[in-house]
Amino acid sequence: MNLRRRLLLALITLLPLLLFAAAWVVLLFLRQGGMTPFRVPLNQARSVPSDAALIARGRRLAAIGNCAGCHTAYGGAAYAGGRAFITPYGTVYSSNISADPRYGIGAWSAAEFRHAMRHGVSRNGVQSPVFPYANFARIDDEGLDALYAFLATVPAVATAPPADALDFPANLPGAMTMWRLLYYRPAPAVTATAAATPQQRGAILVEGIGHCAACHGTRGTFASLAADAELGGGRLAGWYAPALNAQTLAHYAPGALADYLRGTAVDGRGAYGKMADVIAQNLQHLSPADAQDIEAYLRTLKPQSAARESVTRELPAEQRALGDHLYRQHCAGCHGEDGSGKAGKYPALTTSSAITGPDPINAIKLVLFGAAAPATPQNPQPYTMPPFAHTLSPDEVAALVSTLRARWGDGGRPVDANDVGAWGGIEP
Ligand code: HEC
Ligand code: HEC
Ligand code: HEC
Repeated sequence: MNLRRRLLLALITLLPLLLFAAAWVVLLFLRQGGMTPFRVPLNQARSVPSDAALIARGRRLAAIGNCAGCHTAYGGAAYAGGRAFITPYGTVYSSNISADPRYGIGAWSAAEFRHAMRHGVSRNGVQSPVFPYANFARIDDEGLDALYAFLATVPAVATAPPADALDFPANLPGAMTMWRLLYYRPAPAVTATAAATPQQRGAILVEGIGHCAACHGTRGTFASLAADAELGGGRLAGWYAPALNAQTLAHYAPGALADYLRGTAVDGRGAYGKMADVIAQNLQHLSPADAQDIEAYLRTLKPQSAARESVTRELPAEQRALGDHLYRQHCAGCHGEDGSGKAGKYPALTTSSAITGPDPINAIKLVLFGAAAPATPQNPQPYTMPPFAHTLSPDEVAALVSTLRARWGDGGRPVDANDVGAWGGIEP
């Protein structure tokens, strides 16, 4: 009797908690789209539009969206997948999206393709968020059909990419479904109406096919992307992609941002690191009007007041003296004694996000490996920066980077030789 009573009492007290937990799971489930994402439309006939204008639009979208960049292994056949992405939860290989009916998407209906692009779920299961479907979900039906029509023209390649090699717990069955439950909130597709403002058209490009947040977003646990940290800046594959907003981009003159995105070196400032790949592979294909729309949109964004490391430690005098000396010896010839650069040739360092931004990793990488903006029709012979990995020791690199960040940025934590060792590697 006593025991029964106690059990009953326990149940009565626990019941609200259990109900609450169940309600929470149901709510999360509904917010990731309910059952819809998991109902892959498999029973529809394949019929590929052959409209030349639609295919041309698809080709343009595929270029801006970098489908080939992510879906082609180094030295591999275009769109055959197999490119490795090293994430905090293991290695993900991109899929074969060539027109091969067995290994690619050559047997998919337009409905299945739309479904995969909107929900990240296909006949091959729930896809990892390396595939930026959260962004592609925003592309309207016509855009997706254009991509579908274009991809059907891509030569079939009958090879299977390697299977993903995920770490625990991402390798557990249902892990990607769980991830969706916790972090994915589908956003509706948006169509650019004839009345859309440049800012609105720019937003559609940035949030949709451009998937800028895939790198410029601030990621939380398990590579989650919170909607309110969309372009707050983040690290990807060993580079820091700075926050994109009116404040961080203020040093670009009007129109210069659009030029930069299409591959022009603006006052000597071209892209480097991952952004150089992005411009070389996709953004150089933006039309001037699209690039101007993106600029218009980015300039409307306000900086987020994200918590920023503000433990400025005083840089020891001898480190600073060493940094000053190394700068004069190795850098000032191009970037100027005062860091203001050389008009049209070498960028100013006083406004470089690698120096003034919150993360020192780009400055370390630049000094070690040098830089070259991508060669594009807009900038056919880029000026280059030589590498210093063989000239400077890790201690010297650390002193130099810390000195410049203290001089022209708000400093942040000085870096040391360990940081240079840890962050100085080249990641694929
Ligand atoms: C940032 C890299 C990246 C970009 C850009 C990208 N993809 Fe992918 N995509 C991936 C990866 C990685 C996967 C596989 C995910 C996995 O294995 O869980 C994938 C999966 C897919 C799938 C699902 C394939 C299947 O078998 O289920 C489709 C369809 C797809 N991508 C189409 C596209 C198209 C079209 C574009 C361009 C508009 C594009 N992707 C751009 C990385 C990318
Ligand atoms: C031969 C000329 C040259 C020398 C020497 C040189 N740089 Fe550069 N630097 C460049 C060029 C050119 C770029 C632009 C690269 C690009 O557009 O991808 C650049 C880019 C940079 C950037 C990124 C600027 C931006 O766009 O935000 C930093 C930071 C930088 N250099 C630091 C240094 C430091 C520190 C040294 C000395 C160790 C140095 N550079 C030596 C030519 C040089
Ligand atoms: C694959 C990752 C990646 C993607 C996708 C990407 N970026 Fe970047 N971006 C970077 C990195 C890393 C940097 C820092 C290197 C540099 O400044 O060249 C950067 C730099 C930039 C800069 C220069 C900021 C500065 O401090 O001067 C702009 C502007 C920019 N990106 C805009 C965009 C836009 C707009 C998109 C989407 C259309 C985009 N990026 C997509 C990785 C990416």
